[in-house]
Amino acid sequence: MSHKIAVIPGDGTGPEVVVEGLKCLKAAAEKCGFKYETVAFDFGGERYKRTGETLPDSALEELKTFNAIYLGAIGHPDVKPGILEKGILLRTRFELDQYINLRPVKLYPNVDCPLKDKGPEEIDFVVVRENTEGLYAGSGGFLKKGTPDEIATQESVNTRKGVERCLRYAFELTRKRNRDNTLTLCGKTNVLTYAFDLWERVFHEIGDADYPDIKRDYAHVDATCMWMVKNPEWFDVIVTDNMFGDIITDLGAMVQGGMGVAAGGNINPEGVSMFEPIGGSAPKYTGQGIINPIAGIAALQMMLDTLGEEEAADILEKAIITVASTRLNSMSAGQMGYSTSEVGDLIADAVVRM
Ligand code: IPM
Ligand code: MN
Repeated sequence: MSHKIAVIPGDGTGPEVVVEGLKCLKAAAEKCGFKYETVAFDFGGERYKRTGETLPDSALEELKTFNAIYLGAIGHPDVKPGILEKGILLRTRFELDQYINLRPVKLYPNVDCPLKDKGPEEIDFVVVRENTEGLYAGSGGFLKKGTPDEIATQESVNTRKGVERCLRYAFELTRKRNRDNTLTLCGKTNVLTYAFDLWERVFHEIGDADYPDIKRDYAHVDATCMWMVKNPEWFDVIVTDNMFGDIITDLGAMVQGGMGVAAGGNINPEGVSMFEPIGGSAPKYTGQGIINPIAGIAALQMMLDTLGEEEAADILEKAIITVASTRLNSMSAGQMGYSTSEVGDLIADAVVRM
């Protein structure tokens, strides 16, 4: 069987990073003997500027025919914020019902961490971010726009179905990881007394009924930020809504050594998933060959895992760790001691020699 992979290099440094990911995919496929084919799509800011179109209507139907999607980055300095993000990234997440945003926070050995006295032992958790609802659902609007009496509302949408499937995924993942067997719900039950009331009720209801082996913990989102810095070792799996998940995973990225290493998967467990470095298009580094491709390569590693190529994913992770730990001076753009493509070469070579 050959894996059919849609590739969306996207904007900014996205294309540079995707090239390195595909280099490693080739090495992993040769090493482990699986087949794949890629089809590239030019969605992003340049296409939008040329045609006025974000995603053509046929695109989502077409993307559904692939086994996975590999995305570089979306966001262009010449395009008003929101157009590409909503029109391409969020639309794909929503319409392909990629209801989980899976974001591991794992510090590799020898990688600089801004937290004092914390190392790989202490920083190894996963954030399960709900990915189709909450404040991202697009509910709300303007009244009397542009007048002194203007009203803007933006509502958080939380459905029983959406909350439950996200929580179940997180419980299952906690069980599968079998690390501390602890799932922490991150919310704001002291203020958001409707949305997180639902989350908390379902959390305990299905926890009691179906996951008695998993310990349940709760932290408000503000306290979660504090503990992520003070005691990151307390976390095994964190589950949270879309907005809080967005925010705490940027903090998570810093804790694991920076945007240059942070990867994520937009997962539809029953459908087509999309994998991306979480750092965005980084316009100021574009075209210089200095961006760290590790986040993009780690996203590809997550993709291999989801495609059932566990051995290849494992080898690729070991290759990333070896290179990050023994070769790179820093995880930051321009300070790695190597160019973007040299880092890709080092990791692809390490895969072959693994
Ligand atoms: C992310 C990004 C997106 C989000 C933006 C670009 C819409 O910040 O993937 O975390 O908010 O989800
Ligand atoms: Mn974000």
